[in-house]
Amino acid sequence: MKEITITTKFKVFDSTTDLPNDVQNLMEQAVAIRKNAYAPYSKFRVGVALVLDNGKIVTGSNQENAAYPSGLCAERVAIFYAGSIYPDAKVLKMAITAASDTNQTTAPIPPCGSCRQSIAEYEIRQETPIEIYFMGEIGTIYKSESLKNLLPFMFDKKFL
Ligand code: THU
Repeated sequence: MKEITITTKFKVFDSTTDLPNDVQNLMEQAVAIRKNAYAPYSKFRVGVALVLDNGKIVTGSNQENAAYPSGLCAERVAIFYAGSIYPDAKVLKMAITAASDTNQTTAPIPPCGSCRQSIAEYEIRQETPIEIYFMGEIGTIYKSESLKNLLPFMFDKKFL
């Protein structure tokens, strides 16, 4: 028997004012679209903004359903929309913010496992990393240089 260790790395920003200007702008767009979340069940609103290599910014918010699993997370709403409208564009950066209607979200909110797997598909397809920034409503922002940091040991097409 032997053991393997996989390490992963993030950068931590104390507040949005510490972010590069273009990312601050991207996060502002994520905050703005968060208001459009349809989240009557969880009261948890997530907003996402993507910048593409064609200069376009694509946004998305979570959309829930009375049949709970039929809803979709903001990250997948945004990246599927980008993929369907601009199939040849690469996603450069993704900004994620989440806020609850019932309490203030101060911890950085990472994308869920299904969203990580979906984002991975796009990163592998475009063959360049996607920078991912995530935060709550206020406070610390985490930056991942690539989806790979969020999903070590990922399943992808090379196993098929
Ligand atoms: N949600 C997202 O939009 N993104 C995530 O990565 C985690 C969860 C949404 C789904 C649901 O509408 C609500 O947040 C509570 O789980």
